Amino acid sequence: MSIFIDPDAVSSLHRYKMPRKLGFGRVLAPVMFRAVCQDGCWSIGELVPYTAISLDPAAKVLHYAQSCFEGMKAYRTPDDGVALFRPEKNAARMAYSAKRLCMSPVPEPLFLDGVRTIASYCANLVPGNSGESLYLRPFLMGTQADLTVSTSASYAFYVIASPSEAYHSGNMRLWVERDDTRAVVGGTGDAKVGGNYAASLLSTGRLRERGYDQSLWLNPANRSSVDELSGMNFFAVIGDALYTPALNGSILQGITRDSLIELARDQGHQVVEGEIHINELLKQVDSGVCPEAFACGTAAIISPISVIGDAGSSYRLSKAPGPVAQSLRQALLDIQEGRTEDRYGWMQPLEAIRSS
Ligand code: COI
Repeated sequence: MSIFIDPDAVSSLHRYKMPRKLGFGRVLAPVMFRAVCQDGCWSIGELVPYTAISLDPAAKVLHYAQSCFEGMKAYRTPDDGVALFRPEKNAARMAYSAKRLCMSPVPEPLFLDGVRTIASYCANLVPGNSGESLYLRPFLMGTQADLTVSTSASYAFYVIASPSEAYHSGNMRLWVERDDTRAVVGGTGDAKVGGNYAASLLSTGRLRERGYDQSLWLNPANRSSVDELSGMNFFAVIGDALYTPALNGSILQGITRDSLIELARDQGHQVVEGEIHINELLKQVDSGVCPEAFACGTAAIISPISVIGDAGSSYRLSKAPGPVAQSLRQALLDIQEGRTEDRYGWMQPLEAIRSS
């Protein structure tokens, strides 16, 4: 597909000075990719200067939450190149999320053009330290302006980029959320939609006051087995095996989760995708049968869990970070950052377009 590159976007990249301190998602690249859709017909994509979006106050996204997004990263490789990690998986998941919200999906070639174009033009903005990357945030929203509860006939697709460190550094303290649920049975828990994240914020606020970092969400159907964290999937080493909740309809189909399952099996671990009962898990942490647990996600990579709090008690993992989390994190980053052969075919090198 052809792509329009606005000369002002190129000039803004020439002028851009990257701040020293990055954090996660706070520094934004001075360009963005966009395309629009009317009645199922998509425009060509454009790389334009980063600017505020103008929306009609009656746009469906603002009232009925027709919007979904993705999280993915461009990595700096040892030859000073830039590479994406499994971008087709993000394209497919965004199409799944769009379908769940009855939105026009972004065609895969347009999605890939978007993420490749912005990552190539922002090659100078891809940080080089291990664990850092250019975080890409594709998103899609319904823009039709009327207040009827009906699917939008018009959409806007954007990709913005943020030179970033990992989302969470150090060990994490989880709190078992027994009251609220993040997802509902038959709902949108397995789609990447903003409402899931909005639904997690009240719980996060409560647990932060108690000195914890993240909610550990339980399955909405039984309220007794572990689903995931607010923006990450969950793994625990129990006995001789690595356990992770199965994809049950209320859990995000994590691309990092999927990659770690494959890496762990190749490292010789037995990986079980199944139900993890929270009361059982807490006993196993207490007795040492579960010595380590970790969360994973595109933004987070792998974050070791040091403590799980529940109803006034806290259960301390004996290994944080534990050896399984450490070796999987290293194996994943070695592939993503190009230090080891990519025998899975996950990495896609890009043409790095230098802005100076
Ligand atoms: C990601 O890992 O890319 C996400 O979208 C999670 C978000 C909490 C940053």
